[in-house]
Amino acid sequence: MAILETVVFAFWVMLPAYVPNNAAVLAGGGRPIDGGRTWNGKRILGDGKTWRGTAVGTAIGAALALALNAIAGDVGNALGVDLPTFPYSVVVALPFGAMLGDITASFLKRRTGRERGAAFPGVDQLDFVVVSLLLAFLVAPEWFLETFTLAVIAVIVIITPVLHVGTNVIAYRLGFKDEPW
Ligand code: CTP
Ligand code: MG
Repeated sequence: MAILETVVFAFWVMLPAYVPNNAAVLAGGGRPIDGGRTWNGKRILGDGKTWRGTAVGTAIGAALALALNAIAGDVGNALGVDLPTFPYSVVVALPFGAMLGDITASFLKRRTGRERGAAFPGVDQLDFVVVSLLLAFLVAPEWFLETFTLAVIAVIVIITPVLHVGTNVIAYRLGFKDEPW
């Protein structure tokens, strides 16, 4: 695959993992997952991780994956890129893994004394990628190895932080987010 095709391919397969965190920002609120509980005097996760944000983020990411499946053939033809479709297990694993990665990052932030909303450079940008890919691999190993070649993973590791920083700055400027990260 040429580099531009690989970028298109990588962006396509990661869309169901990219969208949930942004959807959660819009849908967040309500009961925090940790129920306000603390561990060693610090919140387990914090008020920024809610049931509603997690459920809505996962649902929107899964719906998007199904929509992408429906149009993969046409879009692939139009772009001249062989776009994959997501097995049903992966339809759920990518968005749920993204949410779980973000939750894991909050857990680590609280353990390291970072308040809600504090930046954790590196972790903030890649947490959701690592866990969504890990879950996708666990539920559909053959599909994963066919789809996520080393070149695709390399492109993901490069474009994800750029997209993450970009979308968060936009969400911040529009007033949807309290901090630009
Ligand atoms: N959100 C949510 N549930 C999630 C993830 C996010 O409700 N599982 C919502 C919350 O309203 C949160 C906002 O999206 O405040 C922004 O998400 P994020 O930046 O991940 O959370 P922070 O508030 O910055 O908290 P943390 O420091 O724990 O990341
Ligand atoms: Mg944050």
